[in-house]
Amino acid sequence: MAHLALKGGQPVRTRPYPSWPQGGPQEMARLQQVLSSNRWFAGPRGDDPDSLGAEFGRRFAQMHGLRFGMPVSNGSVSLEIALKALGLEQGQEVIVPAYTFVSTATAVFMAGGVPVFADIDSRTYCLDPADAVRRISAHTKVLLPVHLGGHLADMVALGSLARQHGLLILEDAAQSIGAAWQGRKAGAWGQLGSFSFQANKTITSGEGGLIASDDEELAERVREMTAFGRIAGQGSAAGRSSALNSLRLSSNYRLSELQAAVLLAQMEKFPAQQERRLANAAYLSQGLGQIPGLTHVRRQDPELEHGYYYYLLRYEPACFGGLAPAELCRALNAEGAPFVPGDAHPIYRQPVFQPANLAGALCPQVLERYRQAVDPNDPGCPQAEEACRRTLILRHQVLLAQREDMDHILEALSKVQRHVQELI
Ligand SMILES: Cc1ncc(COP(=O)(O)O)c(C=O)c1O
Repeated sequence: MAHLALKGGQPVRTRPYPSWPQGGPQEMARLQQVLSSNRWFAGPRGDDPDSLGAEFGRRFAQMHGLRFGMPVSNGSVSLEIALKALGLEQGQEVIVPAYTFVSTATAVFMAGGVPVFADIDSRTYCLDPADAVRRISAHTKVLLPVHLGGHLADMVALGSLARQHGLLILEDAAQSIGAAWQGRKAGAWGQLGSFSFQANKTITSGEGGLIASDDEELAERVREMTAFGRIAGQGSAAGRSSALNSLRLSSNYRLSELQAAVLLAQMEKFPAQQERRLANAAYLSQGLGQIPGLTHVRRQDPELEHGYYYYLLRYEPACFGGLAPAELCRALNAEGAPFVPGDAHPIYRQPVFQPANLAGALCPQVLERYRQAVDPNDPGCPQAEEACRRTLILRHQVLLAQREDMDHILEALSKVQRHVQELI
C-alpha cells in the first residue's frame, strides 16, 4: 500500500496555509479616506509634502534608517530610474547576480547599460563578491546586488570592492523589506536602494515601488526622473503642472494616492507579521536538523535580520531519490506542504538575453558592448546553475501560519524522504 499522497496515501494535511495579499479594515479605512477626498494623486512631481505618497515615502525610508523615500510605480522602473539617477551612460556595465528576477538585469538594458552576470554564493544565493571582482572591466560603473529572498548580500565585501574600483552600488531590495545585517537595513548600504510592492511582496499595493537614499542630490534626481524630468521649486502643491519645467528626458512613473493609502496600512501591519515569520522560520530551521540532506540557505550570523520573503531550502538530491525540484514539490504539495521549486534556470537563459533578440531594441553600440562582455549561453556561473537543481521555496505567507502548521511542513519533508522509493 502506498504511503505518499501522490500515490494514493493519506496526506499529512489538507487545510490550506495563509494566502497573500491580505487586505482588511485598515486598508479599507485608508482607501475610503482617499476616495472621499478630491486628491487621488501625489501632485505634479509625486512629492507634495502633504500627500499620502510623501508620507509613505518618509516613513518607509525611516524604517530603513534613511532620509529619503521616493515612491514609484513598480520595482522594475525603480531600478531603471535609479540607474539613470546614478548617471549610468550608454554601454556602461552593471554587474548583476545570475540568480534573481529577470528585471534586475533587463532594467539595466532599459537604462542604456549592459548587464554582466556574476555567480552567486551557494551559502546565501546572493551575488558572490569573489566572482563579481572577476567581472569588473574598464566599462563597469555599478554593482547591483540583490538581497535574495530577504537575505542581505555580503555588503561589507561588495562595499570595499566598490571603493577599490570606484564603482557605485544600487541594491535591489525588492525582496528584502525590513531586512538588515550588522544593524544596517537593506537599501542603506549603497548609494540607492530599490524596493517593490508588487502583489507577492511583504508590503504590497498590488503594484508599486520605491527608491530610498540618504543622498539629497540623488533623491532630487530620482524625483525628477519619476515625473517627466520636472525640476523642483516651480509650480505648487495645487498642481499647476503647466508651470513646471522638464529638464531631463523621462516619463511618468508616479504612484497613485490609492496605492499609497494601501501601503500605509500594510506598513502598519508589517512588524507583527514579521515577528511571526521570524519565529516560525527559526522553528522550521531547528526541525530541519532532524532531516538529512536539507540546509536552510542563510549565513549563520546572529547579526543577520532576515526579511523572509522566501524561506529557501537547499536539498541533497541523493537524499530525495534524485528528484528534481519540480518533482519533489509535486510530492510535497500532495502532502499539503506548499513548497514551490526555485528558479528552473539562471536568468541569462531567458531568451531576452540572446543578442539576436535584443537587436532592434538596443542601439548598435550597446549591443556590441554586450556581445563583447557577456556570453549568455555560458557566462560561467556554476553555483547559479547548481541552485536551480536543488532549491525549494516556502513563500513568506506560509510563515504567517501557526507553530503546529510548521510541524506539518517538517513532517511532509520527512515523509517524502522516507518513502521516496514510491516515486522512482
Ligand atoms: C529581485 C527583484 N527585482 C525586481 C523585481 C521587480 O519588481 P516589480 O514586479 O515591482 O516590477 C522583483 C519582483 O517582482 C524582484 O523580486
